[in-house]
Order: sequence, then C-alpha cells, then structure tokens
Amino acid sequence: MPPTTHPAPAPPAATTSRLPRTDALEVAVDLALLAPSVHNTQPWRLVLHDDRLDLHADRTRQLPTLDPVGRALALSVGAALFNARVALAAAGWSVVTERLPDARDPDLMAVVRPVDGASDPELAALAPAVPQRRTNRRAFSDEELPDDALRALADAVAAEDAELVVVRQEHHRQLVARLTQQADAVQNADAAYRAELRAWTTRSAASRDGVPTSAVPHVDGRQRDDLPLRDFDSAGAGGLPPETRSTMRQTLVLLATARDDQAAWLRAGEALERVLLELTRRGWAASPLTQAIEVPLTRTQLRSALTWTSHPQALLRIGRAEATPAPPHRLRDDVVENSTRPPETEPRPLPTPPVGPQHETRAADGRARRRPVSDGRGGTTWV
Ligand SMILES: Cc1cc2nc3c(=O)[nH]c(=O)nc-3n(C[C@H](O)[C@H](O)[C@H](O)COP(=O)(O)O)c2cc1C
Repeated sequence: MPPTTHPAPAPPAATTSRLPRTDALEVAVDLALLAPSVHNTQPWRLVLHDDRLDLHADRTRQLPTLDPVGRALALSVGAALFNARVALAAAGWSVVTERLPDARDPDLMAVVRPVDGASDPELAALAPAVPQRRTNRRAFSDEELPDDALRALADAVAAEDAELVVVRQEHHRQLVARLTQQADAVQNADAAYRAELRAWTTRSAASRDGVPTSAVPHVDGRQRDDLPLRDFDSAGAGGLPPETRSTMRQTLVLLATARDDQAAWLRAGEALERVLLELTRRGWAASPLTQAIEVPLTRTQLRSALTWTSHPQALLRIGRAEATPAPPHRLRDDVVENSTRPPETEPRPLPTPPVGPQHETRAADGRARRRPVSDGRGGTTWV
C-alpha cells in the first residue's frame, strides 16, 4: 500500500519549535496506548526505531467469538495509530503513514514516520483531548449534537477516508434500535460470547486491561433502553447508575467505509478516534454501540437500509453526560519495544490538560501552543 502523507495546511506565521524526533516518537507511544479498544483488550504491540514507530496487531488479544475476522481488533489498532499521528503533529512534526506496508507480515498494521515539513494543526489541536477521552456509558441528556458540529465531524471523518452517516429519520432510528436489540439478544444467547465477555470484565488488577466495573452501569433487570448498551456487568457490581437513557432521541451516527477489508477497518479506527477526540474537545460524551455491526445478519440489514454503497463499521451514541472513570492501561514496558525511557513499575498517568476553547493547541493569533513534552522522569507533560 503506498504511503499516505497527511499534509498540513500552511504553517502558522511564527513556526513553532518541535520536539527531537526520538522524544516525539516516545510521546507518540504515550498517546497511542490511551486509545479505545474493543473490551479494552489493547491488542497492539509497538516497536520504536530511531526514525519511526511500528504498530503491530497482537492476535493473542483478538476476541475469537465477538470478532472472528479481526474487524474490531483492526479498528482498535487504527485508533491507536490515530493517536500516534496526533502526538507527532502536536510535537511539531509532519507525518508519513504507511498502512499494511508488508504483505509478508500482515500483522504489521502501520508505520508512522515523523518527517520534515509543517505539522497538521487540526491533528495537533486534538492532542489535549487524548487523555480526557472516555467511553461514557452513563445516562445522556436529551440534547442532540447541533448540525454545525455534525458537519465538522463529517469533514473529520472524510479526512480519514470514511463516511459519517447521521441516523436522523424516525424510521431509520427505529430500525437501528431494533437491529441493536436483535444483535444484543443473539450475542447474549451464545454461551461462548458470555464467557468471553466475563473473561474481559473480571480481569486481575495486574493485567491492567479489560472493562472495569467502575466504568459500566449496574444492570438490575430494569433497563428498558431503545438501544441496549452492551451488558458488561457480568459480576453484578457495575459502578455507574443503572439508568442509561439510551433512547431514540439521542444523536446516533454510523461510521462507514467504501471497502470492507483490513485496510478499511484500520482507516475506520482512525476515523472513530478522530470523531471521539473531536467530541471530547467540544465537551460531548460518546460511546460505541457495536453489537449490530458484529452480528453478520444485522450488519447486512444495517447496510441495506442506511449505507448501501458503503460498509458499516461502528455505531456511536453521542450526548452530554457526567464524566466517567478511566479504564486501566497495560504497562508501557509490556507493550513497547526499544523504548529509551526508564522501566516503570506503575503506569504513569498522563497529566490531564484542561480542554476547551481557551486551551486550544494554538491560540487564534497562532502563537500560544500547548504540546506534549517529556517531563524528564519517564512521563509526558504539557506546555
Ligand atoms: C471497535 C470497538 C468497539 C467497541 N464497542 C463497544 C460497545 O459495543 N459497547 C461499549 O460500551 N463500548 C464499546 N467500545 C469501547 C471499549 O469498551 C472501550 O474503548 C474500552 O473499554 C476502553 O475504555 P475507554 O474507551 O474509556 O478508554 C468499543 C471500542 C472499540 C474500539
């Protein structure tokens, strides 16, 4: 696959300094590790080189029942890839990305190289949102995402070679609700699916992966959602309130791609993370709701009703909600090869920079610029 450059618009008047290449690549790793992943499997292995970062799929972390073909795994790696691109842009670099560059090594999903040239300010502006983004499974308010924000999301998704389908019409919302209910029922009737979900919701603290009880609603049998959230409360200990208000009134969007192969799934993951970061930056909450994509019959029905010429990859609910706790992240040393950072025993939480218009990566005058830099102790800080 030919390398794709992500060219940046004209650089700001006063060109900003950039991090040294090796430091920038370490920061790319920091942000890649914070990506969303199906069941928080974090199915990646990252290899640092002097001039590039390689992102590999870790197939030992693929979900054989939910994800036999590896779509959700590739979307997850795509999200990590997007964060790496964002980090390099925020560190002042232009980025060349090669996707699936080696036919003999299909698990080498992508290579990112910081190169000379202007960094992409739109990507750089998303960096402060990376540590703040969460999958939010709380009740959403009835407020829907305004049209101008939806248009901005559609542009952001198009920049990642994907399509944003807004599920607007009443009969489409009803269909998406019915297909999600149907897929959810099919999955929950499968003992292998339930066992897999139980395994990823009852992980030991030492494994630092899986979906934690603190981030899932308590399920007590009273849920009557139009679009059921995946029931992660396998131990009956969900820490969020049972009420999730996943109704047909919330904003629903579907991400779709022109093709339906590894390369498209990777791009869909990049588009997914771009949407999630754009929403985080604007103060909106979101959560993927992908049961109807995972069950072949409902995916086909979704496609024929909503995206006939393209392939559905992820459904998202969007709204306003209170904050939700962070999931665990695997130790950097267990995931990353060739890092020059000192070994860590505890994952170092990234400092959480404030997000909002007053904290954009670049101020309107093009001078003030927040970006990640090494804190000299093996972590990252923001200046
Ligand atoms: C491909 C993909 C599919 C997902 N599907 C769902 C889903 O159906 N329901 C859900 O609540 N979360 C879903 N998630 C979110 C993950 O559970 C979440 O990213 C993970 O637990 C880590 O939490 P975080 O996103 O807050 O970092 C999905 C994420 C990805 C990347």
